[in-house]
Amino acid sequence: MGRSKVSVIGAGNVGATCAHWIVAKELADCVLVDILEGMPQGKALDLMESTPVVDSDCNVIGSNSYDATANSDVVIITSGIPRKPGMSRDDLLATNKKIMATVCNEVKKTSPNACVIVVANPLDAMCHVAFDTLGFPRERVMGMAGVLDTARYKAFIAMELGCSVEDVHGMVLGGHGDTMVPLPNHTSIGGIPLTELVSKERIDSIIERTAKGGAEIVALLKTGSAFYAPAAGAVAMAESIIKDKKRVLPCASLLNGQYGHKDLFIGVPCVLGKGGVEKVIELKLNDHEKGLLNNSANAVKELVEALKKN
Ligand code: NAI
Ligand code: 2OP
Repeated sequence: MGRSKVSVIGAGNVGATCAHWIVAKELADCVLVDILEGMPQGKALDLMESTPVVDSDCNVIGSNSYDATANSDVVIITSGIPRKPGMSRDDLLATNKKIMATVCNEVKKTSPNACVIVVANPLDAMCHVAFDTLGFPRERVMGMAGVLDTARYKAFIAMELGCSVEDVHGMVLGGHGDTMVPLPNHTSIGGIPLTELVSKERIDSIIERTAKGGAEIVALLKTGSAFYAPAAGAVAMAESIIKDKKRVLPCASLLNGQYGHKDLFIGVPCVLGKGGVEKVIELKLNDHEKGLLNNSANAVKELVEALKKN
């Protein structure tokens, strides 16, 4: 059996950083696709030239066509415009919808058996565009946002407590927007509930910073949005699929009645393995948490409605 293949569509900040993580982890052969001539080829060659230094036997190819992506095991779609200061993720809707549909029409022809990880924003709405265009089973189309939002949440908790990120466990559910739902009652540090270690005021401020985490980076960078943590998130999902690790990660998944929602992509805990989203785990939420998740689901529904007008 040969190496697995991961194709990354869009070789910009997030896409190129995904390829970097894939090579660093020696996860799979990687194909980088972009519409800009020479750019994916240049980044791929640069990464290939790094492989002897990092002892990674991955092939990396850059291309403006989909031929080299044929029969990918996983396709990560990062193509789309990012936010500039003052823009919300939702401002990206019309442009990124067209790009997502164009890309998915190619992916369904060239990699009909792939698991597809959507990254472009607005994330949950773009998952709907991808799902509708691809026509793949729901298990094989998912979005990356929860891993990023959860990573930010955990990083802020570790910074607050001065403890290792390894010992922080928790999850952020819901849509990838200001209404996302960090779950402090389901968060622990080395087995100790977060609520016993950190005051309510400080937890509220960590939750607020998490929800606005993307905007915080946009305001600092001024020319685009975050890419190191987002790429790490997408590659963690690809790794769980390729190695059939069955990790439990928060992913945007098309719900089929779970959490009281149907035919809607929002972030929920998923078991990721060879088959893609092999299971959605239903946490027992209290009424307050259910209310927050429903509020977030409603924000995603509005965007899905807006898609029809754009
Ligand atoms: P970027 O501008 O650095 O890269 C986007 C790339 O897509 C560009 O190189 C562009 O040429 C390419 N592209 C545009 N149309 C294309 C097409 N039809 N086919 C192939 N490539 C095409 O942007 P960046 O920072 O990499 O962000 C990409 C997207 O990911 C944005 O929409 C951003 O908002 C989103 N994002 C989502 C996150 C999440 O948590 N879901 C986190 C970070 C970014
Ligand atoms: C973020 O949260 C831009 O959605 C991206 O950083």
